[in-house]
Amino acid sequence: MSSTPQKPAVLFVCLGNICRSPLAEGAFRAEAARLGLDVAVDSAGTGSWHVGEPPDRRAQAVARRYGVDIGQCRARQVTRDDFSRFTHVVALDESVLVTLQRIRPRDAAAEVALLLDYVGDRAGQGVADPYYGGDDGFEITWADVTSGAAALARRIAGG
Ligand code: 4NP
Repeated sequence: MSSTPQKPAVLFVCLGNICRSPLAEGAFRAEAARLGLDVAVDSAGTGSWHVGEPPDRRAQAVARRYGVDIGQCRARQVTRDDFSRFTHVVALDESVLVTLQRIRPRDAAAEVALLLDYVGDRAGQGVADPYYGGDDGFEITWADVTSGAAALARRIAGG
């Protein structure tokens, strides 16, 4: 049986849960702490390839450059229960959003959206997958997830 969580709880979801969603989780944790928000935060992947692994070392490095430690994250796969445990299930790109809409239980209360939907002029856009590219891709990912995380935190704060 699904129940409505008491406090805001945000789950960020990408494909592998080793690059984009751990970065979004880290950026959002930092922003929520800055705003004094009482909110639960986690991340997951639609795929199972990397379950149990820490974030990609390039993702850990870019977060560390901006003062955020994501080294404690361990990859897990998203589940149907997540749609009742979290108030916001946030996809990092369109393919992830399509998967989430497919597995989402019909009666689940969670708001399901793209991360950049919360950023006015970037609604509908995905955060590009940096996994097969170079280090500069991770800088772009960090910039995208920090703007999305800040906008979502403001929205949850009621601003
Ligand atoms: P992420 O990046 O979805 O941002 O964690 C990926 C990591 C691994 C794979 C794909 C995307 N993979 O196919 O193994």
